[in-house]
Parts: sequence; C-alpha cells; structure tokens
Amino acid sequence: MRCGIFDSGIGGLTVAGELLKGGVFNRLIYFGDTARVPYGGKHESTIIRYSLEALEFLRNFDPDFLVVACNSASAVALEELRREAEFPVVGVVEAGVEGVVQLARQRGLSNPPILLTGTKATINSNLYQRLLKGRGFTKIYPIPTPLLVPIVEEGLWDGPVPEAIFTHYFSNLPREEIEIVVLGCTHYPFLTPLFKKYFPNSGLVHSGKAILHYLTRYYNLPIGRYKDPKIEIYASENVKGVRETARRWMAQIGAPLSEGF
Ligand code: DGL
Repeated sequence: MRCGIFDSGIGGLTVAGELLKGGVFNRLIYFGDTARVPYGGKHESTIIRYSLEALEFLRNFDPDFLVVACNSASAVALEELRREAEFPVVGVVEAGVEGVVQLARQRGLSNPPILLTGTKATINSNLYQRLLKGRGFTKIYPIPTPLLVPIVEEGLWDGPVPEAIFTHYFSNLPREEIEIVVLGCTHYPFLTPLFKKYFPNSGLVHSGKAILHYLTRYYNLPIGRYKDPKIEIYASENVKGVRETARRWMAQIGAPLSEGF
C-alpha cells in the first residue's frame, strides 16, 4: 500500500514518522515544498495551487492514498485535492479534532479549555474552531504562532530563540488552566519538550499520532500491517537537508528507516 504525503517543508516528517512507526503503509513518498515554505502566511488561493502541484508530483508514484501532512493545506485545500485525486485524500485537521475528543475523554473532561496553535492560514480558516464547537468544545483559545515554523526549518528546536518566541506568544495565557494544546501545525512536534515545559498540565494533540488513529478507525488500515515500511524523500529545494532532518527526527522518535536511507 503506497501513500503520498506532503507538507510545505520538513513539518510533515512528524506525520511520516508516526506512519512509519505504525506500519500502516509499506511505502511512503514524501514531498516537502522547501522552495516555497512557509505556506501559512500565504493567500488561500496560493496554498490551493501549491497543494494541487504537490498532488500532481505525487501522482507520478501511483499512490493508494494521499496524506496532507500540513494543517494549512488541510484547512484550505482539502476539497480541491479530493476533487482532483483518484484516491482517498486525508487531512490532519479532522484527525486533530478526533484527537481532541479522545484526549478529553481520557482525561474525563467534557469541555476543557483548549489552546489552538497553528499558522495564520489554519487559524483564520476557522475550521478547527468550527469542528471543535460542533463536538461541544466552547473554551478555545486560538493563537496564530507562525514564527515557530522558520525556527523549526532552521533546526532550532530548543534553546533561547524558541523560548523567547514561546514567551512572546503565550505569556498572557492562563497557562495552568489549559488542559489540551492542539499542535495545529506539523512543524510543532519538533518543539514538544518546550510545549511540555510551558503547558505542564496539558495533553498535546499531535497531527501525526492523530492521523494514524484516524486511518485505522475510518479507513480500516491496521497498525503493524507492514513490518518494514520504506520512505522516499523529495523536496523542491535542499533535498539533502530534508533527508538529514528525517534521519535526525526518525532516530529521535524511534521510527524505522531502511538501511542505506
Ligand atoms: N507544517 C505546515 C502546517 O501544518 C505548514 C507550515 C507553514 O508552511 O507555514 O500548517
């Protein structure tokens, strides 16, 4: 079972890593649009155009599925992608909302305070807010946090620079009250230790873990079906850098990378 997967840059590797660990596909074909990252500050029509171009590229590999490993593209381009693709297209926003429902249930909470982070495109699309409200969640703090994307692309996953940005975005929040933090951008799991430090009482919703669960639940893809899944990585620029990041990240989370990758 082949899966095409794309993001504006390296963020989608956090989703690819969970898919590799989950073994739901035997082949992942990853495309990072590093020449045009970030997507999140761009106009909706631009994000749609870029997403359709990513589909065009991934179509060459004859995938059985397309995973949109970018919240910004999932929030604004899913409909167009589904219209164009001849295979199922799954986005991370619906999956993330399911992730919130699950986490709230695990914590025994019916309407917990939720911090929603993401790019401007994702937050301004209002999709998370609408879907969360539809599931009975009304205490939502939506905060666009676009500066977290370039620092992750830069490899600055901890230290004073991300800390200063966290202070800039989150110092006015009632941090102790927040029960759930939605990492509504696939770049943000790279900053998990910092999110945990800033929100020690919160559970984190991670697009990759959420979509793995979503695929097993709604598409009947069993976990652990493939023991030796493979990933191929393509990028519109600096493919070597993306592959190096993939090695670093997959090693950190214990995701399998085939020999010679
Ligand atoms: N990683 C992407 C997301 O999940 C896009 C970040 C960006 O390019 O602005 O939204």
